[in-house]
Amino acid sequence: MEIRVGAVAPAAWQGDGLVLAVPAFEGELPADLARLDREVLGGALQEMATEGEFQGKADTQIGGRVGAGPIRKVAVLGLGPVDKITPDTLRKAAASALRWADRQKCQTLALAFPGEDPVPLVEGVALAAHRDRRFKTESPDKPSEKLTVTTVELLGLPATAQAAIAPTQALVESVILARELVAAPPNYVTPQTLADTATELAKAHPEVLSVEILEQEQCQALGMGAFLGVAQASELPPKFIHLTYRHGEPQHKLAVVGKGLTFDSGGLNLKVGAGSSIELMKIDMAGAAATLATARAIAHRQPTNLEVHFIVAACENMISGRALHPGDILVASNGKHIEIDNTDAEGRLTLADALVFADRLGVEAIVDLATLTGACIVALGDSIAGLWATDEDLVQRLQTASQHTGEKMWRMPLEEPYFQQMKSVVADFKNAGSRSGGSITAALFLKQFLDKTPAWAHIDLAGPVWTDKENGYHNAGATGYPVRTLTAWLESYAT
Ligand code: BES
Ligand code: MN
Ligand code: ZN
Repeated sequence: MEIRVGAVAPAAWQGDGLVLAVPAFEGELPADLARLDREVLGGALQEMATEGEFQGKADTQIGGRVGAGPIRKVAVLGLGPVDKITPDTLRKAAASALRWADRQKCQTLALAFPGEDPVPLVEGVALAAHRDRRFKTESPDKPSEKLTVTTVELLGLPATAQAAIAPTQALVESVILARELVAAPPNYVTPQTLADTATELAKAHPEVLSVEILEQEQCQALGMGAFLGVAQASELPPKFIHLTYRHGEPQHKLAVVGKGLTFDSGGLNLKVGAGSSIELMKIDMAGAAATLATARAIAHRQPTNLEVHFIVAACENMISGRALHPGDILVASNGKHIEIDNTDAEGRLTLADALVFADRLGVEAIVDLATLTGACIVALGDSIAGLWATDEDLVQRLQTASQHTGEKMWRMPLEEPYFQQMKSVVADFKNAGSRSGGSITAALFLKQFLDKTPAWAHIDLAGPVWTDKENGYHNAGATGYPVRTLTAWLESYAT
């Protein structure tokens, strides 16, 4: 699908489907819309407005066949009150425009939306257009599953807007990389696959990316007992992935760490019973997927004067005669002794060694991304991630980025007294506490593995990385959360 800035006015456009998006209005149509209405719709919109059928309210839509003219079909989408329109309003409206055009079997689509920023429109259209058909047999009886739209033109934008299209498409392709890594099951995406993905990224962008994959013995030599303990029951060897982006004279050094469990069975504390969702545990590498996908986005967009480390300790949490026993004691690479209270609290063990590694790189900030706890979903639901942080500037930057991208996160407390739940009789601490405040104690556990890095944030994204139903610009399945936010966050440091 090609997306470009169109040079003609909506009334002069020729093609299959035109979608106008309009803020809410009362009575008379706003002047510019009235003109479009006369020129494109023969005054139909004014008639509907007068009769109260359409007033541009949020999530309302009218549409129809225009007839024999140069435009086959027209739809008008309501955006709601003008002062409440955010980039996400436009992103979602662009996605509904694409879905409408697809239902109408349009090949060419034009959007006439308010504002001058093409970015949310490109994102909305391209993210909604992504259909993951890798695991479906192509059926000649069902050609309808293919998207009909081949070209999208964005009308009414300044010609300079064209320059933003390619970098936005690179960003969307990176979101799609994350979605496809998450949606692929554990017999397709293994620790090796994640390592290969990182290696291929570095090969594709040798001018800015370099990669190192540490094998099991090298992790052993570094004393990564927590990570290797989780990996030890699997037939698949663990991979410790370290991708580095360098561009210009780095003024800022940053790190992103992603949880990379390509499958989480729970281990001997096996995920049993309704609600434990063992069949969904391919998503337990969504933090790693977002980490690698953000590296891809950055390599394409090349923000200047930055050094960014992308780190994933990739493995599977399985059962076998070699599995971790509940009660085992593991020694992490910073020397901390951890008593395994629950083998299903494995993500924090792999992150422990990944965080120690990141902390020793001398970066100014580390952000980790992890499908860490079911408790975070209980607290915030499926569309909001939890955010824990030790530094206000870092929180500001992440929240600004997140408000811009529509990828929601909510700050949660690092309530130190709760760490008492993880007291151990025999070791330094345990890897799990009680049920209460489960996502907070998980964050406090991670904090034990940071030492000299001035700013750290932990994002528990167990909820928003997956959606069971189509939702805005996401189709059912993996969402690619939070690649756009992380990219915007990193770009906030470019000079
Ligand atoms: N990967 C899970 C968390 C998870 C749950 C992600 C649901 C996505 C959807 C994590 O490893 C886990 O099992 N956490 C346990 C921790 C507990 C044993 C302290 C949990 O949340 O139950
Ligand atoms: Mn688990
Ligand atoms: Zn897990």
